Amino acid sequence: MTTDPAAVAAAELPFARGLPVFGHAFGLARNPLALVARLAREHGGAARFRVLGRDLVAIDDPALARHVLQEKVDSFPRSFHYRQSRVILGDGLLTQEGAGWRRARRMMQPAFRSDPVRDVATATARCWDAVRDRWLACAARGEVVDARVEIQRLSLDGIMAALCGITPGVEDADRFGSMVRDALLEVRKLNNAVIRLPAWARPRQVATLARIRYALDAFLGPVVDARINAPEGRDILSALVRAKDEAGMAFSRSELLDQTKTLFGAGFETTATGLVWALCEVMDRPGLCDAIAEEARAADLEGEISGLALERISLARRVIEETLRLNPPVYTLGRDVLVDDVHEGRRIPRGSTLLISIWGMHRGPAWGADADRFDPDRWLPERNPPRHAYMPFAAGRHTCIGMYFAQVEMRVALALMCRDFRFAWAPGARRPGMRPQVTAAASGPVRVVISRR
Ligand code: HEM
Repeated sequence: MTTDPAAVAAAELPFARGLPVFGHAFGLARNPLALVARLAREHGGAARFRVLGRDLVAIDDPALARHVLQEKVDSFPRSFHYRQSRVILGDGLLTQEGAGWRRARRMMQPAFRSDPVRDVATATARCWDAVRDRWLACAARGEVVDARVEIQRLSLDGIMAALCGITPGVEDADRFGSMVRDALLEVRKLNNAVIRLPAWARPRQVATLARIRYALDAFLGPVVDARINAPEGRDILSALVRAKDEAGMAFSRSELLDQTKTLFGAGFETTATGLVWALCEVMDRPGLCDAIAEEARAADLEGEISGLALERISLARRVIEETLRLNPPVYTLGRDVLVDDVHEGRRIPRGSTLLISIWGMHRGPAWGADADRFDPDRWLPERNPPRHAYMPFAAGRHTCIGMYFAQVEMRVALALMCRDFRFAWAPGARRPGMRPQVTAAASGPVRVVISRR
């Protein structure tokens, strides 16, 4: 029972009643994105609800979200959803808390500042050459391609080059890509299980998780070893090998392996999903691809890419920002409530789990009457967008460490794609809906005809 007078005086958050016993279990299993966004919206920014006896709170109020993520961060650690991915990813930034997380984040942060990350632009452009050759062949054959598959390859090549300094062959990349996807899907199954069973009661799943972990370690282990033996490169893994903590200690091999897996797990599918939606937005608007292409031709996107070239592709930047507003790959953030807390006279009950709907917040009242309209010009500096209600990369202590990395990679990739090709929906194809899996990804193939400029 709470003794804090403010908490005693505070009002309860509205309660969204569900089915007896099950509560909102079925809605959450069917479409967590839609359920959490709807409950928060219908109840003025925050609502309590129950799922099989568990207390949850749906939130889309930007002020409350910032209170949780930024102002009172120690009272709201990340929820069990993150801890469950430890069985595959090990102890990386996504699963660590407290002193371990703080030490690792401090050691890793310099590698992700905006200057070193400019190398991501160059790495992305280099990978683009191989992808362009493949797409030229598809264009010559008039082939219909699934943009999800093609963009996943591009994104994986880019992230492998920038993170580890390697350019895998198509086969290796496909094999590794499906390993990372399998890993994320298994974690999602764990997170969405209506009843959480102990490990001994689900031997088949435990074996699958162990197999995926082994495969990932077997693939990335030699990459990590190569960087430990020769850490002079400009890639991020080399920078992590060189990093030292306050006591002058470097990361051990197993720490490097876990952090590398985590960076792939957190960075690959999110970026690919964002780029797929950006392409859909572009294809839905005649003229947008040509405008991005014109800008990309005027910027110099060959060889070492400069900061100036990145600034020049500002329409591509605005398209990406707006894409991440309407289609945020990470659609919900989970946080546990350690102690009773009060925000603007509303009580946040200890023991509950908060689900912050980024998707809902990005379409909320702060965005005005046309919140659902795709308008890249919202991001012109003179339009002064409501940034307090925009957090595709979260906010506060756990803000995505790969934020600049992803922004640069996506911006350069989109500019290059539009510079060299035109894209159209294949005959009879329509834009697929959104299926919230690990990320808010397309629910089916994105069938596209590519033509050469
Ligand atoms: C469009 C692409 C991306 C999106 C939308 C995205 C989104 C996010 C969000 C929302 C979080 C916070 C999760 C939370 O605290 O609940 C996060 C954390 C994280 N992201 Fe990203 N991310 C993207 C790309 C990347 C990339 C490219 C990398 C690495 C190369 C990366 C690595 C990480 C890591 C390691 C964390 C944990 C940070 C910490 O807790 O210290 N992400 N990301």
